[in-house]
Amino acid sequence: MKILLLENIHENAEEFFKNEGYAVETHSSSLEEEELIKNLQDVQVVGIRSKTDITENVLENAPDLLAVGAFCIGTNQIDLEACSKAGVAVFNAPYSNTRSVVELTVSNIIALLRKVFDRSKLMHNGRWEKSAKDSFEVRGKKLGIIGYGNIGSQLSVLAEALGMKVYFYDIDDKLPLGNAQKCSSMQNLLEISDIVSVHVDGRESNHNLIDEDEFEQMKDGAIFINASRGFVVNIKALAKHLKSGKLKGAAIDVYPEEPKVKHTDYRTVLQNLPNTILTPHIGGSTEEAQRNIADFVPTKLNDFIKMGSTVSSVNFPNLQLPQINDEHRIVHVHENIPGIMGKLNNIFASNNINIERQFLKTRRSLGYVITDIKKEYNAEILDEVKNIKGTIRVRLLY
Ligand code: NAI
Repeated sequence: MKILLLENIHENAEEFFKNEGYAVETHSSSLEEEELIKNLQDVQVVGIRSKTDITENVLENAPDLLAVGAFCIGTNQIDLEACSKAGVAVFNAPYSNTRSVVELTVSNIIALLRKVFDRSKLMHNGRWEKSAKDSFEVRGKKLGIIGYGNIGSQLSVLAEALGMKVYFYDIDDKLPLGNAQKCSSMQNLLEISDIVSVHVDGRESNHNLIDEDEFEQMKDGAIFINASRGFVVNIKALAKHLKSGKLKGAAIDVYPEEPKVKHTDYRTVLQNLPNTILTPHIGGSTEEAQRNIADFVPTKLNDFIKMGSTVSSVNFPNLQLPQINDEHRIVHVHENIPGIMGKLNNIFASNNINIERQFLKTRRSLGYVITDIKKEYNAEILDEVKNIKGTIRVRLLY
């Protein structure tokens, strides 16, 4: 098995794959389409970050590719539909930087309530402004969390540990952690919170979720935080409410338009507003998160390659599978159309093969069947399996 790791992926990943017996090739940068295709010949797994595009053309010209590892959270750079059509499984690292985002959010809440950045700026400009006015402890303050997923719920735990009263609103029915209280509507949350922190996902309907009306509904003097997605907030409306003093501060880590390159000039309507902390989408950017990603993604890829396991795959039906000992495992990826299972099992039956274990799961247009059989079998059945109409890919694991 050969693996290609691009974009300076953390060295832990390379070490892991070498220890697992893979041949590993690394590149410090991303590769353009043509170069990528050249480098993917004979490669079964490719590891990328956000700058390498896995397009339909790449997939069509990389016949040995079985899996893509996105060593990041987002998968916008990967044509997931084309991957499914080609029977290529995609894995990412959805939780590896959760804690990093939460820690930045907690530090921003404290810094905003104490106006740390404005005071620091004054000190850097030679101005000593000592005052307790408008400075508050976080203890006892009401934190409203919109989106109680991985990040929102972990923020809830840390905020409670600091003595905050936590309220949350989620469109899904979420279990409140600790003493956190569920709000019946977003409006209800906005009306009672001293600090509002947004942690929703990037679904289409969340465009401008926080707009003029939502800022109006917040308490006078509320603090606002967004470290989720830029398009979730109308930043012109946010700027207006910071200028008017309706909001007493904001911390923004994500923007509707973000540059693609790391070092560049940047302009936003939020610059130079009072008590406003601006960071360049660094919520999840820590050394620990990078290491966590390099530990998480390789194990998922390895379990897929060696066992057929698809736990946490972004595009494949998720199946957790037992180890195989004295058996062969046949992995069959197919179009999700009626009749495939019948045809598959007919082949086993007519060749007098007893099935030890079998698992099926489907997801959208894809079907995924794992069949464990005894080692003694007629190798020609694999050709029969491959010839079933609707088959995308067949693999035999030992
Ligand atoms: P998640 O998918 O675990 O949680 C999102 C939650 O939001 C879900 O519970 C969902 O039901 C809820 N939700 C969606 N739309 C909603 C709405 N309109 N109202 C109320 N609840 C809603 O996602 P996770 O991992 O917690 O990430 C949250 C956000 O943070 C994502 O947008 C992600 O892209 C972003 N993120 C930002 C980073 C940064 O560097 N600033 C790093 C990592 C993630």
